[in-house]
Amino acid sequence: MARHKVLVTRRMPEAGMKLLREQCDLKVWEEDRPIPPELLREWAAGVDGIVCVLSDPIRAEVMDAAGPSLRAVSTMAVGIDNIDVAQATRRGIVVGHTPGVLTEATADLTWGLIMSLSRRIVEGDRLVRSGKWTGWGPMQLIGGDFVGRTLGVVGMGRIGQAVARRSRGFEMKVVYHNRRPLPPQDEKEFGARYVDMDELIETSDYISLHCPLNAESRHLFNAESIGRMKPSAYLINVARGPVVDEAALVEALRDKKIAGAAFDVYEREPALAPGLAELDNVVLAPHIGSASGQTRDRMAVMTAENLLAGLAGKRPEWCVNPEAIKN
Ligand code: DGY
Repeated sequence: MARHKVLVTRRMPEAGMKLLREQCDLKVWEEDRPIPPELLREWAAGVDGIVCVLSDPIRAEVMDAAGPSLRAVSTMAVGIDNIDVAQATRRGIVVGHTPGVLTEATADLTWGLIMSLSRRIVEGDRLVRSGKWTGWGPMQLIGGDFVGRTLGVVGMGRIGQAVARRSRGFEMKVVYHNRRPLPPQDEKEFGARYVDMDELIETSDYISLHCPLNAESRHLFNAESIGRMKPSAYLINVARGPVVDEAALVEALRDKKIAGAAFDVYEREPALAPGLAELDNVVLAPHIGSASGQTRDRMAVMTAENLLAGLAGKRPEWCVNPEAIKN
């Protein structure tokens, strides 16, 4: 059987690489930074498949550079905003992704960020390390509370639901906004109430973002919407950077219009908006929502299996555009 030619834009955990190696000749970008766009195009020439990560823009130029041999693109992520799926579909290129497996790890990280931010753990860590801590004090590093407070979840998909489920342990109220309300039995399970965006923004003590990035959600949190949050509220973004207008948020945080923000994702990763890193009322994580051992192994296997199915002309189990198969 002829072996497939595959470009891998970033080395994945071995569980996935092994599956790929069994059937494919791989060209792997080995550096721990995104492959530069010109090399991505150059290396894509003549490949049958591309395994990519969320920082690789897989648009018409890359598909053109690959040529008609390209039949499958598989991203090691649930988010697909870096891929021009419509373009891929027109060309009969199947696109796979990794939903589901990273839900719990991402929800765990979200709570890690919420706790670190509200209870000022990172600030406290800096204080202790600095040698300037003078010992316990009644007014030191006073943070937010959880019991009885309102968590607002924007995007009540798998991850939003897992975040809401965890909040029950903290005895919080949950409101959410989504394209569609959940069935009543699910709302009951999460103790969640569907509200419009205005109510969510204006009444939540913690706003946690879990929506996909699209034209509707880009800069959903901007100077105007952030300005309507409670001054005591916190904003947590574990979705995609451009859902928040980072420059507007820096200004709001600087002026103490809201209490704080935590990020796992950024508008122009890995760059930060000017001034963000200098603020005390932020916690900044380096896009590690799915970075638990078991999760990354599973993502790598799914990524490889999606690609191999697409290359074999089958529908990948986790396919974004099954309609591409008949094109
Ligand atoms: C995704 O999968 O989209 C995350 O952002 C990275 O795991």
